[in-house]
Amino acid sequence: EKPILVGLLGLGTVGSGVVKIIENHQEKLMHQVGCPVKVKKILVRDVNKPRDVEVDPALLTTSAAEVIDDPEVDVIIEVMGGIEETKELLLRALRQGKHVVTANKDLMAVYGSELLRVAAEHHCDLFYEASVAGGIPILRSLVDGLASDRITKLMGIVNGTTNYILTNMAQNGASYEAALAEAQALGFAEADPTSDVEGLDAARKMAILARLGFSMDIDLDDVNAKGITEVTEEDLNYGKRLGYTMKLIGIAQRDGSKVEVSVQPTFLPDSHPLASVQNEYNAVYVYGEAVGETMFYGPGAGSLPTATAVVSDLVAVMKNMRLGVNGRYAVAPQYEKQLKAPTE
Ligand code: NAP
Ligand code: HSE
Repeated sequence: EKPILVGLLGLGTVGSGVVKIIENHQEKLMHQVGCPVKVKKILVRDVNKPRDVEVDPALLTTSAAEVIDDPEVDVIIEVMGGIEETKELLLRALRQGKHVVTANKDLMAVYGSELLRVAAEHHCDLFYEASVAGGIPILRSLVDGLASDRITKLMGIVNGTTNYILTNMAQNGASYEAALAEAQALGFAEADPTSDVEGLDAARKMAILARLGFSMDIDLDDVNAKGITEVTEEDLNYGKRLGYTMKLIGIAQRDGSKVEVSVQPTFLPDSHPLASVQNEYNAVYVYGEAVGETMFYGPGAGSLPTATAVVSDLVAVMKNMRLGVNGRYAVAPQYEKQLKAPTE
């Protein structure tokens, strides 16, 4: 049977996990979609760099065109990061009819609507489950699992790096700098961790969640975000003595016809379920009018957990390819094309 051919943009923390899952779970993938899946070409910056995964060196290239413009490539998986240049690459792929899977919340928070519109125009899938909360299938749960309900509030811990730092400062007496360095070494932090620690990464994820949860266009500039750079060990110890744990909490909730979205360090009573979410783990509460309260919990960053979400999106694309319904029958979050602007 003819394999589905994938072009991979990036072979770092997430990209290595994607290659491992495609190789190690080939039988499961075959069972799901009925044909083999192969990575045909991989874009990197440095072909000679040591990698966490063994790949045929002939697959590596520093030429984006060799991946994006290869007529045999069916699906582009983008796990390289970046906004402006990456957007152009993905638009080029979509305009050639290639389906796209991305883990890039920076890109989706800023240009998601435009990319999704172009994807729909070209009957392509554009899925981005890994962009929020790593291995937790929260976007599908919001869009499909809770499709019948009206969401009233979303609240959670959506950045693994800052949760790792806060956990290790509070529980192990680690310094902020040492805990951040560990989070970077473990592959949880962004290439430039400023967006993690200043709350922008969480703000982007909350904007994506809020768009899908409330079917409203949320302008990132309207998201009030404060990170953890000013949190001190004294703050954490003071809270601890009083029975409180500090977490970086994102909240999105309806306020009349508007949706307010914010991110800030927050003291939670130790008995609160979010207070016990540790290290790189994330958790998202979803409140629905009919369902009440639901909580989604799991690893929010890291190679294999994030890659699981990426490859599951790839499976969704491949199932749609078999049915011939790409870009039309949404089995996953590409609902932004239906967003309405907020009304006063
Ligand atoms: P990473 O470890 O820094 O890997 C990035 C990869 O992309 C590297 O292989 C790099 O090549 C390649 N790359 C970057 N810019 C490039 C360019 N201009 N041209 C060619 N190749 C380029 O990053 P990551 O942690 O895997 O994250 C990738 C994406 O996933 C980001 O959007 C991130 O926000 C998102 N994400 C990450 C996690 C996580 O836990 N790490 C979780 C969810 C989502 P070289 O290897 O040659 O340098
Ligand atoms: N830097 C991000 C985090 C990666 O720490 O949550 C997962 O999106």
